[in-house]
Amino acid sequence: MKDVISYIDQHRQRFVDELIEWVKIPAISSDPERAPDMARNAEHLAESLRGLGADRVEVWPTAGHPAVFAEWLHAPGAPTLLVYGHHDVQPVDPLDEWVTPPFEPAIRDGRLWGRGVVDDKGQVYIHVKAIEAFIKTRKRLPINLKLIVEGEEEIGSEHLDALMREKSADLRADFVCVSDTAMFGRNIPSLCVGLRGLAYLEVRVDGPKNDLHSGSFGGGLLNPVNALAAMIAKLHDENGRVTVPGFYDRVHELTASERAEIKSLPFDEPEWLASTGSPAIHGEKGYSTLERVWARPTLDCNGIVGGFHGVGAKTIIPARAMAKISCRLVPHQEPEEIARLVGEHLKKIAPPGVRVTVEYLHGGRPYLAPTDHPVFEVAKRAFTKAFGQPTVFIREGGSIPFVRTIADATGKPCLLMGFGQPDENAHAPNEWLDLENYQLGIKSAAYLYEELLSVR
Ligand code: BES
Ligand code: ZN
Repeated sequence: MKDVISYIDQHRQRFVDELIEWVKIPAISSDPERAPDMARNAEHLAESLRGLGADRVEVWPTAGHPAVFAEWLHAPGAPTLLVYGHHDVQPVDPLDEWVTPPFEPAIRDGRLWGRGVVDDKGQVYIHVKAIEAFIKTRKRLPINLKLIVEGEEEIGSEHLDALMREKSADLRADFVCVSDTAMFGRNIPSLCVGLRGLAYLEVRVDGPKNDLHSGSFGGGLLNPVNALAAMIAKLHDENGRVTVPGFYDRVHELTASERAEIKSLPFDEPEWLASTGSPAIHGEKGYSTLERVWARPTLDCNGIVGGFHGVGAKTIIPARAMAKISCRLVPHQEPEEIARLVGEHLKKIAPPGVRVTVEYLHGGRPYLAPTDHPVFEVAKRAFTKAFGQPTVFIREGGSIPFVRTIADATGKPCLLMGFGQPDENAHAPNEWLDLENYQLGIKSAAYLYEELLSVR
């Protein structure tokens, strides 16, 4: 591997420069006005893959934003790896909290700052550059490799299922690798073996036909903002458990060995709390913080609006209120079922003075990796070779809908080999990528491709 590794060292700066060019494209999938940027973003990636000896490089249109596909199938008898990533990024608000503008990537303190640098453009480029290193030094990859990079991950991968059905033959592989998660901490290479799922709802509460004078009508009608706040307050009990009937029915308790594995990690809770800026730890009674965020289901209000929020005071009974509610799900919970249970419960606890409507926006299913499969030891070895540190198994509380979908469709194990950091500010202002991790990530991917030859 000396040839490949030294190529990665020699081209370190150019690999960063090329990532910077891609990050400049504002690929915000949730903003319909950015659709042309999404197309340009996909084309930019496809262009950076051309010239790397692929048999095919294609931009796949969907009913939403396009995906990019490429494949290298010149290793007869060797396994085929499917690498997945996403090229869309999160919105950038609040814009005034960014130290440097989100789409003008800047280097400070050994980090690259900008929207999408780690979630997920930098992690997609880790694979692109590992591929390049093999092609430029050896003219071929050690294994067969397929790359799919979708454009709607941050908005629930709405059109991915249809695309995967249409392209099921193209996506066939022996193993799947996704780089869209974080490491447990600095210099701790980490394979993520569990992701939570998601069910996302929007709740509308309607009262009077328009805002009313609160002097003339206040006290005589139910205020929709009061009603919605009271309903949300009822969704947890004093032990931090979700009160929706049936919510925990399919949840399996963590086993003693799962709990021991989580407990064995060097988790610094005060540091974790300090990194959030929140004044205290809070959560479901009977579980540690890592258990709560990795392996227990949750219900959270992501936003709530209604009534007057301008400067000063205005005396009204608002006509309506709205909240966005999401549930993180653990194995055996199903997004549609949880959305239905939460929706039914909200309607049941709605007081008579308001009308409640609930809409299911999107969801994704949880994933638990089959860690007894030999490929996990191989991936650990590859990661450890690059970082010179032992690799640990972790879980993550976030969701990547594709992972469970591909695992179910193919029955193949998925390696979540992520190179972010817990405080990387993904989805927040000042997102950053550690440039050392970027470099070591490229080496890890290269070692992985090589090591996969030893798995059958
Ligand atoms: N990279 C994240 C997934 C992730 C989040 C991994 C936190 C590890 C920790 C991904 O881009 C993401 O944000 N996913 C969404 C999916 C949702 C829109 C279905 C999420 O988790 O909110
Ligand atoms: Zn994300």
